[in-house]
Amino acid sequence: MNPLRGAILAASRSKRIRTTVESVAATRRVVDRFVAGQSTSDALECVHRLTGEGLLATVDHLGEEVTDDAGADATVEAYVSLLGALASKDLARGSDVSVKLTALGLAVDPAGAAERARRILASARDAGATMTVDMEHSALTDVTLDTVRALREADPSVAAVLQAMLRRTEADARSLAAEGARIRLCKGAYAEDTTVAFQHRGDVDASYQRCLAVLFASPCTPLVATHDPAMVTAALELAAAEGRAPGDYELQMLLGVRPDEQLRLRALGLQVRVYVPFGTEWWGYLMRRLAERPANLAFFARALSSRS
Ligand code: FDA
Repeated sequence: MNPLRGAILAASRSKRIRTTVESVAATRRVVDRFVAGQSTSDALECVHRLTGEGLLATVDHLGEEVTDDAGADATVEAYVSLLGALASKDLARGSDVSVKLTALGLAVDPAGAAERARRILASARDAGATMTVDMEHSALTDVTLDTVRALREADPSVAAVLQAMLRRTEADARSLAAEGARIRLCKGAYAEDTTVAFQHRGDVDASYQRCLAVLFASPCTPLVATHDPAMVTAALELAAAEGRAPGDYELQMLLGVRPDEQLRLRALGLQVRVYVPFGTEWWGYLMRRLAERPANLAFFARALSSRS
């Protein structure tokens, strides 16, 4: 792995660095680029703006690695209240929520986390929205996919996420795709060992393209999550070759990353969904975005040094 990426991912686990960054008002501007805000109403405002531009949203209540029941229950409450608020503003239909199982207590109580995910799913269904289960580090891949499969028995629209950087993913793509699932394919945002993950960009990209081919040739709905122009082009070529209409697959990008490209793809008549994170626990999320693109660090460093 690139040493800079490793250092940034290590910083994502440092409380001291987080406290320093939080004390500098200017860094809020950087956070604001990637995060909708701290409250449910900030998330609603962002979804309202995106839908006004013809884009769809998948909303993530930020938080991960929750290890107590109260914290995990608070995550459920946050999603239930978000979904109620989206429904009340007529923004739920077509919207999606992205949920991390570790925010539901997965690390300490997998059965409890699955039960909490079921409660969020029920609330999403009532609101007319869908749900995606985010994928976290590779030690959790099996339990996450098992949980998604169990949730899909209640509602087949629940989407799984696969990470092209993992060596296992092409095989996972084949089996999940055959089940006709909705599958978000991303490159993968976590630091992983060479035994389980490709370390070189070229190998990750080649894996991404192989997985795309598997998904587009299958009965699944591919959700193509990337900002990489080469991957987007590959997806559009596969969609044309397989005769897929725009609603039969989706392009997904993160809030604040290549916003002009999101609108350009939408203007072509394609279905584009934006990942909208909100909440107070933005630190780990922001650090992963910086690790993906060290060029963003310059922007971040300028904000820290201006201290305005
Ligand atoms: P790559 O990182 O190779 O970047 C390609 C190009 O995109 C860059 O050259 C640059 O132009 C642009 N770009 C990329 N990142 C940028 C940034 N932060 N700022 C500015 N420009 C940038 N991961 C995971 O492990 N589990 C998950 O559940 C999800 N979920 C998810 C949902 C959605 C909708 C997206 C888009 C991504 C995820 N990810 C994720 C993150 C994903 O794994 C990956 O880390 C990022 O998308 C970056 O990879 P790219 O495919 O964009 O390519």
